[in-house]
Amino acid sequence: MSKQVESSKEFSKLMESKKILDIKEDVNLVLEGQYKMAYDAMTDAYNAGLFVGLVGPVGCGKTAICRKFAFDMKREFYWVTFSDLIRPSTLIGSFDPTLVFKYGFSSDSYIPGPFTLSALKGGVFLANELNRGDEYVLNSMLDAMEEKKLYIPQLKTWLSVDEEFYVIAAMNPSELKGTRKLPSAIKDRIKVWIHLGYPSRSLEQKIMLTNCPEYKLSALTQEKIIELMIQCRADPDVDKPPSLRTSIGLARFVSERAKRLKVEVDNKLIAESAKLILPDSIELRPGKQIDAFLKKLLTKVVGVA
Ligand SMILES: Nc1ncnc2c1ncn2[C@@H]1O[C@H](COP(=O)(O)OP(=O)(O)OP(=O)(O)O)[C@@H](O)[C@H]1O
Ligand SMILES: [Mg+2]
Repeated sequence: MSKQVESSKEFSKLMESKKILDIKEDVNLVLEGQYKMAYDAMTDAYNAGLFVGLVGPVGCGKTAICRKFAFDMKREFYWVTFSDLIRPSTLIGSFDPTLVFKYGFSSDSYIPGPFTLSALKGGVFLANELNRGDEYVLNSMLDAMEEKKLYIPQLKTWLSVDEEFYVIAAMNPSELKGTRKLPSAIKDRIKVWIHLGYPSRSLEQKIMLTNCPEYKLSALTQEKIIELMIQCRADPDVDKPPSLRTSIGLARFVSERAKRLKVEVDNKLIAESAKLILPDSIELRPGKQIDAFLKKLLTKVVGVA
């Protein structure tokens, strides 16, 4: 057997064993404070037949709450994360060349995209990172969102959209790098915009613990990690603050390190770990040096740099 055949056979097996059979996976979410407010607003918007959008900084929990909401709605869930690589055909669909060879250019050889599937089946479509998409691509969703009809350009056919079809958008504020100003046509079709920020100290602590259930962090370690996040976010030298992934990541890393070294987590271990995690989790204002910044931050919060 050639190496190529061998590796493609191996891939087929791997793919079979790793297939996600049900995308509607429950999310272990802390539904309190701003997240509860957002969830309630999403419920009201849904019941009022209005599409909803979530806006907030990197890693504040937008996608997590959207996934939770879609799961609780018990509906088929589709999503696309927008970027420059997403084309209208990624959303709507395209012909499969091998099927075209067999059936010609017809619906039998057409592979629908996630937007088309959710529009026709009455599912929930999450437009993740909506303002990172090209205007031309976003425009391909307009008719389905308002006039309840969807044009499939390759088949030159209009289809009617299911009454239950629902769109949720999530995105970073438009001042953030890589985002664009949302075209007014799409912005106006999403009527309820919910703004999230980073959670309060106690809520972030709960979220951090929910995301590392296998570790036992002392109350003091938890406080120090959250304090590092809070100080970073409040520091005028910080351009891009640390996300929830940073507090969760630091908590997990510190715990694993302490386990390997068979020691208790102390200030020195927190400082060492933070030096490995923070530099690439934040961005400083131009001209500011990360080493000097970390020294100032760690001395203030854990007393060792
Ligand atoms: N309320 C919450 N309860 C539990 N975990 C949460 C909660 N909010 C966020 N998280 C966790 O925090 C991390 C970041 O959340 P998420 O990916 O939803 O952020 P985001 O705002 O979509 O980020 P990005 O802007 O990068 O897309 C994830 O690991 C997520 O599971
Ligand atoms: Mg996200």
